[in-house]
Amino acid sequence: MALCPRCVQDLDKLQEERFVADGVPTLSSIEQERVEASVAEFYEKFNSDSDVNPDPFLDKEKHIQYLLKGLKRLSESYECLDASRPWLCYWILHSLYLLGEQISEEQSSSVAQFIKKCQHPDGGFGGGPDQVPHLAPTYAAVNALCTLGTQEAYDVIDRPKLQKFLMKMKTPEGAFMMHEGGEVDIRGAYCAAVAAQLTNVATPEMFDGTAEWMVSCQTYEGGFSGLPGMEAHGGYSFCGFSALVILGHDRLCDIKSLLRWTVNRQMRFEGGFQGRTNKLVDGCYSFWQAGVLPLIHRVLSVQGDHALSAENWMFDHAALQEYVLLCCQYFAGGLIDKPGKSRDHYHTCYTLSGLSVAQHFASGSLGHELVLGHPNNELRRIHPLYNIGLKAALDAHKYFTSLSVPGSDNTECKE
Ligand code: FPP
Ligand code: ZN
Repeated sequence: MALCPRCVQDLDKLQEERFVADGVPTLSSIEQERVEASVAEFYEKFNSDSDVNPDPFLDKEKHIQYLLKGLKRLSESYECLDASRPWLCYWILHSLYLLGEQISEEQSSSVAQFIKKCQHPDGGFGGGPDQVPHLAPTYAAVNALCTLGTQEAYDVIDRPKLQKFLMKMKTPEGAFMMHEGGEVDIRGAYCAAVAAQLTNVATPEMFDGTAEWMVSCQTYEGGFSGLPGMEAHGGYSFCGFSALVILGHDRLCDIKSLLRWTVNRQMRFEGGFQGRTNKLVDGCYSFWQAGVLPLIHRVLSVQGDHALSAENWMFDHAALQEYVLLCCQYFAGGLIDKPGKSRDHYHTCYTLSGLSVAQHFASGSLGHELVLGHPNNELRRIHPLYNIGLKAALDAHKYFTSLSVPGSDNTECKE
């Protein structure tokens, strides 16, 4: 019987990790107690059923059915995501990749052709056909097309116009607007860095000053905020640190303080991560927070930090897997933020992405032993900078670097 390290062996001990109220109830403390009680119910149920079902189980089949259905048709309740259609393509395609499900050539072609309709005549992608180009759907469209990985999908991207669009979004400080006249925040820099890097359209001036601007978003807590002077948050931390790594400037930030802040966002009782200090656990931070840790591990290893080894995990990977497997699976397929919430494609994508990080954190030597529960729970690996499949990222990189950077004098390199 494969024991679940925290629940089955030591549920009583785990209770010691619960929130201790200080006698002054606040909205945050009341909510925290409520969430812990609902998580405890799931852990206790798993514990009491463990004679019959000893292994936490990822119901891949149900999740795949939910995702395939979403790829075909979405109900009217998705109307509010009408400006996020390339995101829906990316969340669904990436989740299917993680679960090991291959889509048909026909489906692949129809997604590529749909994303083509979202491309703006002046470059970049909008949230849907005939919408203004925006950096967030541009990032999602590039990721989705690279996930498809076909010639047809690569050919959708008008690289010279994408390059122009990215340059147009740049501000004099080195940051990026999300769209023309729109908000400036650290997501913009990350979306631009990923789109430019994957498609090989970056020029030396494109990211001039960007690393310095992003470093000014690292807060006293250690995480990154959306803008200088704001509150550190996991979503922005992932964007900031990944973009610094992509741009080759990770040494400019305080990595140890980012590490300390990030690991302290793992909830002692729930096992999942919160997005910011004193907030609630949420399945999507399994990726936004834990996803930073392999990047930090890699950077510190390259710097020769001897406290690190493949066996030296930076977080409790089993606890995170328990939270996702026992608390975040929606009974009808799809994954969720926390017990009691409804499923959606965003949470399905990021909760699974985080589960993959937890399973594969220290790649290689430890292999399957890190997959909690049934061996079939194993998900495919991600590229930690872009959050697409590892091979999809390498293939895209290989293909687009065989083409010259638009505007450069290089003739096409055919090797
Ligand atoms: C707070 O939500 C959420 C934010 C302040 C932004 C989160 C940013 C991301 C998830 C990154 C997006 C990345 C890209 C690439 C576009 P909340 O107050 O509802 O949640 P909380 O209580 O958990 O903080
Ligand atoms: Zn969430």
